[in-house]
Amino acid sequence: MHVFTQLSAWQAARAASEFGNPSVGFVPTMGALHAGHRALLARARAENDCVVLSIFVNPTQFDDPTDLDRYPRTLAADLELAEGLADYVIAPAAAELYADKYGYRVTESILSLRWEGAHRPGHFDGVLTVVLKLLNLVQPRRAYFGEKDWQQLQLVRGMARAYFLPVEIVACPTIREPDGLALSSRNRRLTAEGRTRAADFPRILRAAPTAVAAATALQSAGFSVDYVDDTDGVRLGAVRIDGVRLIDNVRL
Ligand code: PAF
Repeated sequence: MHVFTQLSAWQAARAASEFGNPSVGFVPTMGALHAGHRALLARARAENDCVVLSIFVNPTQFDDPTDLDRYPRTLAADLELAEGLADYVIAPAAAELYADKYGYRVTESILSLRWEGAHRPGHFDGVLTVVLKLLNLVQPRRAYFGEKDWQQLQLVRGMARAYFLPVEIVACPTIREPDGLALSSRNRRLTAEGRTRAADFPRILRAAPTAVAAATALQSAGFSVDYVDDTDGVRLGAVRIDGVRLIDNVRL
């Protein structure tokens, strides 16, 4: 596994004739890798000749500086998890990836304003901008995204269509703990009690007859609810517990 922290070195390697013309599968992440990321890497491994993983805690998608500071950074453990699954890892510095000082950005102006976008202003500008930069750097045939971030997945797909990007966006099912909680890098910030109660979140999303009933039941169970909404056969939700924000979605 080759690890690149300098984009210029990665770009030279990507352009070199030794790279050949393999099908490249790409898994973009912000690190703090867990079994959900492992599943994305394993799928990329199975479907492509070569797998590229990016690890970059993207500052432009955090609307809350405290959240950015508290985001776990675990590069050594991440590289260990990726060993044998990724061929190349790019872990660039923000100064290099944002040499334009975020002067150029991708804005979607319809779907991005709802749900997550309504609660985290500017979040999806940051996500789409960094994903476009990374796709251009990696030039993958396929890029892998988890269904847990349902709205992100729709927006990345929409961007690929809107800009005619030569990449297939592959959606991968959410990986869950045995009690149903979706895997997330944020789960490690929950207290033991919060972790136990967090499993009620997907359970209530699934069991409630309507989105309004789910929001009410979540509040009664001690969650602070940002939103619950039904759309396109999916129920989306975002809640806070223990000061940790969790998002999830279930098929209706
Ligand atoms: O889903 C994530 O981890 C991030 O939003 C992504 C796609 C890596 C962009 O920073």
